[in-house]
Amino acid sequence: MGLNVVVVTLPDPTLEPLIAELRETFPDLEFRSVPVSFSPNVDYMAPIKKETSDITIQLIFNNAGFIVTGFFEATDEMKHLVNLECNARAAVRVTHHFLRILVAKKLKGCICFTSSVAGYIPTPFAVMYASTKAFVSQFSSCVAIEVANLGIDVCAVHPSPVNSNFYDKVEHKIQLMEDAKKAAVEPDSITGDIFKSIDSWYLRDLGAMAIGTRLGTSFLPYNFFTGMFAAFAPFLGDYKTHNAKRG
Ligand SMILES: NC(=O)c1ccc[n+]([C@@H]2O[C@H](COP(=O)([O-])OP(=O)(O)OC[C@H]3O[C@@H](n4cnc5c(N)ncnc54)[C@H](OP(=O)(O)O)[C@@H]3O)[C@@H](O)[C@H]2O)c1
Repeated sequence: MGLNVVVVTLPDPTLEPLIAELRETFPDLEFRSVPVSFSPNVDYMAPIKKETSDITIQLIFNNAGFIVTGFFEATDEMKHLVNLECNARAAVRVTHHFLRILVAKKLKGCICFTSSVAGYIPTPFAVMYASTKAFVSQFSSCVAIEVANLGIDVCAVHPSPVNSNFYDKVEHKIQLMEDAKKAAVEPDSITGDIFKSIDSWYLRDLGAMAIGTRLGTSFLPYNFFTGMFAAFAPFLGDYKTHNAKRG
């Protein structure tokens, strides 16, 4: 698409080889990397601002995210806070910084958030994940209204399961996730749909699971789902497995 790219992600050993490969494949384009961790005690905005101070960023993708599984109280507080920082707070800070510049320079652009189906249905065993995704979708829609007339498109996408590294990092195995993974599509198959969604949707559900869940939750109150899940959760295999470890 002829886009220069700044990749902001964890400082792991795959980052520099990725940038080198991109440079070799697209010699006419510019690629930069900013290795940072979106964690509560890390000043990740400083290197992001420094590495982008001489260029104008008009397309912003808030995509970094991970899931913490298991009962909420079974995971250390700090891990939840890192999850909150990565999935929600970092998206706020990155968006605030680059949106300010776009508005000040009177430039058009887009901001895209990778949210999740989990954001619009009560999701036990992934409390922080679902809560941060609900936040991100709401945040996206609110900002969208404020900047739509400036030519800045803001969109949150809700993909159905994608065969990325997402599932490999899960600490507490959840059978419902393992089942969802079986229906996962390849990452390449949804990137085009994400780009196409940006100027025509505010919230975009991608794939059968996301669309089906949206339809299924459109006609009944949220309270109903919470009550129904609370009543039936103790009969689920995942609940029984993790509950047995509660002691
Ligand atoms: N896969 C799915 O089924 C699915 C479905 C709906 C929504 N999503 C959402 O899609 C987005 C992308 O996830 P994915 O499926 O592509 O999974 P992924 O392969 O695990 O990619 C997640 C990305 O986030 C980065 N990241 C994780 N923790 C970070 C932190 N604390 N600070 C900075 N970067 C961090 C990872 O860096 P490293 O590469 O260095 O680990 C990786 O680049 C996430 O927001 C996820 O919630 C995924």
